[in-house]
Amino acid sequence: MTDPHPIEVDTHRIEVTVNGERRTVVVAAYTVLLDMLRDTFDRTGSKECCAVGECGACTVMVDGLTVNSCLVLAVEVDGAEVTTVEGLAEPGSLSTLQQAFLDHGAVQCGFCIPGMLMSAQGLLEENPSPDVGEVREALSGNLCRCAGYNRMFEAVLSVAEDAR
Ligand code: FES
Ligand code: FES
Repeated sequence: MTDPHPIEVDTHRIEVTVNGERRTVVVAAYTVLLDMLRDTFDRTGSKECCAVGECGACTVMVDGLTVNSCLVLAVEVDGAEVTTVEGLAEPGSLSTLQQAFLDHGAVQCGFCIPGMLMSAQGLLEENPSPDVGEVREALSGNLCRCAGYNRMFEAVLSVAEDAR
């Protein structure tokens, strides 16, 4: 039977660049950036965990600033450049930061790692020589259930050290 009171979904056409790929897509007004990245762009590195801005698993960069993509509407990134963890290096290779996480044994189950990497990347772009306190603060919005924080801090500090 036809619904006598169909709900009209407000949609918007936006143009967005994700990891260098510029596309025009149609999104519902309520679609969050995280869902657009995962469902429309097939960039599934960013994870959904809390969906309320508490865990950082969904962290990406929008025009160079880190955001929780579960809290950003897709329509808000119209015209913006978005970088996800897949954009940190060419396919099949690792960025210096990603390699440092591996070398320091900072990856356990891996669920939090994309968000951690994006927050760390954001820090290093803003401050290439952070001290341990600055690294801790920058990653304080990213939760790791495996609690491998110290190795992550060491990995980020090693990249900063090499850049000196
Ligand atoms: S899923 Fe976005 S902050 Fe937790
Ligand atoms: S490595 Fe498992 S949640 Fe962080």
